[in-house]
Amino acid sequence: MNEKHYTVYLHAREFWNSRFNDIHVPLAYLHARELLLSYPTADADVLIPAILLHDVGWKSIPEEDQGRAYGPTVEDESLRRLHEIESVRIATEILSAVNYDPRKLEKIVHIIDGHDTRTESLSQEDSLVKDADKLWRFTPVGVDYHHIQFGKPLAEYVAWLGQQIDRWFFTERGKQMARRAMAEVQRAVSEVGHV
Ligand SMILES: [Fe+2]
Ligand SMILES: [Fe+2]
Repeated sequence: MNEKHYTVYLHAREFWNSRFNDIHVPLAYLHARELLLSYPTADADVLIPAILLHDVGWKSIPEEDQGRAYGPTVEDESLRRLHEIESVRIATEILSAVNYDPRKLEKIVHIIDGHDTRTESLSQEDSLVKDADKLWRFTPVGVDYHHIQFGKPLAEYVAWLGQQIDRWFFTERGKQMARRAMAEVQRAVSEVGHV
């Protein structure tokens, strides 16, 4: 991580101790780094801060309400939207405080504002944030956490998850990474009965 990104990280991580973001965001960061290798023309100075800051707004939503805002059935669309609005507010404060390039700040918060609810992508960096955000769902810890949280039997949840790849991902590399992770999860489930 370069100095500029590290400074943003130090501020962003203060907001990760809510929901499962202290696991999710570092994994999303690693996935973003891997995606960047396949799309070197993407601006890392937009992508990396956007991924580090995209979910800081969850900290503003009480833990007991968060479960209604995501998953196979979203019970409260306004809460889902609220985490984006709060993430934009906090990200703007952090990026301004560290004197981040104002033109890049604008692109970053535009991506964050809609990272979850906006169904189309605004730019290559936006596509990569959206894909990096979703890849953790295909990791063993993401699968294990979500199937319990959503109250679905593991095999049923894994089958459902595998069907979402073409719908969720914007980049070919993102789809490829999701399929590779999915194959590992499926193999584990069939061989040992857990992830
Ligand atoms: Fe989010
Ligand atoms: Fe996220």
